[in-house]
Formats: sequence, structure tokens, C-alpha cells
Amino acid sequence: FTVNWDASAAQKGGWDSYMDKEIHEDPQAVADTLLGRFDTNGDLNLDEVRIDPETFRQIDKIIIVACGTASYAGLVAKYAIEHWVRIPVEVELAHEFRYRDPILTPRTLVVAISQSGETMDTLMALRHAREQGSQVLAICNTQGSTIPRESDAVLYTHAGPEIAVASTKAFVAQIVAAYLLGLYLAQVKGTMFRDEIHQIVDSLKVMPEKIQWVLDTQAEKVARAATSLVDAKSFLFLGRHVGYPVAMEGALKLKEIAYTFTEGFAAGELKHGPIALVEPGEPIVVIVPSSRGRDLLHNKVISAIEEVKARGAFVVAVAEEGDPDAERYADVVFYRPACPTLMSPLVDVVPLQLFALDMAKNKGLDVDKPRNLAKSVTVE
Ligand code: G6P
Repeated sequence: FTVNWDASAAQKGGWDSYMDKEIHEDPQAVADTLLGRFDTNGDLNLDEVRIDPETFRQIDKIIIVACGTASYAGLVAKYAIEHWVRIPVEVELAHEFRYRDPILTPRTLVVAISQSGETMDTLMALRHAREQGSQVLAICNTQGSTIPRESDAVLYTHAGPEIAVASTKAFVAQIVAAYLLGLYLAQVKGTMFRDEIHQIVDSLKVMPEKIQWVLDTQAEKVARAATSLVDAKSFLFLGRHVGYPVAMEGALKLKEIAYTFTEGFAAGELKHGPIALVEPGEPIVVIVPSSRGRDLLHNKVISAIEEVKARGAFVVAVAEEGDPDAERYADVVFYRPACPTLMSPLVDVVPLQLFALDMAKNKGLDVDKPRNLAKSVTVE
């Protein structure tokens, strides 16, 4: 009697790679990170972080320190937290932070975001912050790892183990955790009405379904685009507002696993330099904000698409379902279901994760273990 199964395939849950599996766990990572963080009245309850509400009330500045993907999750959170809590939020690469004599006071909350909890650069940044008397809160995916152990407080992301070197489900979970922190601060500081907070929480709670919709309906289109673009030598990614960090994360994914030269930048910066790179056929991935409500931003991004199209670029847009302008100007459109602007990164990153995965597979590369990279960098 022989059992015909392969242990490694079983660990991958039937998927070809850990990265496939982990991208498909994006919805669960979001749902699980929200779980158990509310009391019976629907208010946020973050007692688990062990910083008392009074200390939180005193916080007058946040500095987020992180590396790689975690730093882009931090940058997304900056847009939300500043809007909700009305305190400045800086986001800094952990390895730059420590060497520039940052201004830290006991009222500064330093938030260290790390999937592994072992990134040395992030650890050194948090040690520096604590030496200067600031409170450090870790947003981390690994129970009992060094970064949460050395922090004053911890808010765990519940994405489950992430094995593939390129971070995917941890990214969406990090955004959710940082949003919960922001909403909690808004709650204790009273910078938002209770109803407003509840409304945002409700829109967070439906995001797993929206991410699932993207996985179910857009994957084939993404795969087709990756097949047609497999020989492209370079890609530009652009976005505005929360689409800007998403553009950088999309560029990072493609660089990490498909070894393609990519650059992610703010769409408004196009005219200040990057447009010089646009040649006929150059693929440009553009994150298009919703056309509802924030017309100004939407129109500006659409004009960026027109600019690059006029120079012959091949435009792949990530846009809201039914966006007539994206359909009109872009060559390919990956859709997101309608959602509030601040929620859009949770869905917009998904086709970009899939795209990088498909590009790497088309090139016959090992998507889980890209060359030269480590899952967790434990040296400075
Ligand atoms: C490494 C990994 C990246 C990750 C970064 C930060 O460079 O290859 O995928 O984003 O470290 O890792 P952390 O575990 O601190 O989130």
C-alpha cells in the first residue's frame, strides 16, 4: 500500500507555490486581523496592546519605521491615520531613521511594522526610539519574535505563516492592523464621531469579499496580460494618494520575483522626470482612483494616462469596475469592486501580486525563493 502524495504540495494546499497559496489567503488575512478587535457595542477594543488609553490620548506624532513591503503598508496607513486622527504621521525606512537624529519625545508613538519580527534594521530603529524615551508599538505577524518582544506594545496581524520570500498576505494584514490602530486613536482622542468610526469598520469588514471578487474574476485577465508582457524589459508603476504606495509595492513584487527592472512613483511626479523614460511600447501600470467623490484625483490620474499614451506607452490600469475613462484610455484594465478610497489598496494590490507571480512563472523562475533575497534580513 502506498500513499501517493507529495508532502510539499500538501503544505502548499494544492497550489503550485507558497506565493500562489498566500495571495489566495489575502481575504482570510484581512478577516482574521479584524477578528476579536471589537467589543459588543462595535467599538474598538485594543486592550491587548497594553498601552493604556490615557497614554494613547497624549500621543501627538506617529513615526512608522519598516523595510520593504511593510514600509509601503505604513505609507498607506499614513494617509488614513492623518485624515482620521489629525496628528502627523511620518513613515521612514528603518535603516535611514536611526542615522538622522529623528525628533522623538515621550508623546511620539513609533510604530515598527514587520512581518517576521526579526528584521535587524527595524529592530535597531525601535531600540533607538526606546532609548530616546518614545513608546514603540509593533505591528507584527510572528508571535514571540524579537521586534514585539522588545516593543512596549504589540498588535499582531493574523495573516498566518508567510513562507514565500515576497510578502503578499502580510501586506494587506499590515494595512488592516495599522488602520485599527488609527481608528482606535481616533476613538480615544475623540477626533471622529462614533458613527463615522463604525462606518469605516463596516467598510473594512466587507473587504475580504471584495478581495475574493478580484481573485475570482480578474485572475485570468491578469494571466493573459502577463503572457503578453513577458518580454518587457522594464515597467513603470504610478499612482496617487493611497495608490502611490500600492504602485511602489506592485513594482517591488515584480522586481523581487520576475527580476524585471521596475520603478514605482507618484503620478504627479511623471512630468518632473519619469516621462522621459516613456518610449513606444513601454508598459506602465497605473492605479486609478475611483471616479466617484474624488473627481480631481481621478481626472489627474486619467490625464497622466493620456500623457503616456500619447507617447506610445502600453497602459495597464487598475480601476473601479465600470470606470468609463479607464476603459477608454488604457489598453488593459484590472477591476476593483467599488469601495471607499482608503480601502482601495487592499484590493488594488491583489492583481499586482498575481501579475508578478504570473510573470515569474512565465519566465520559469522559482517564485518562492527568488535569487539573492531572504525572507527575513537579520543583518544591518
Ligand atoms: C525582506 C523581505 C521583504 C520584506 C522585508 C521586511 O527584504 O524579502 O519581503 O518586505 O524584508 O520584512 P519584515 O519581516 O520586517 O516585514
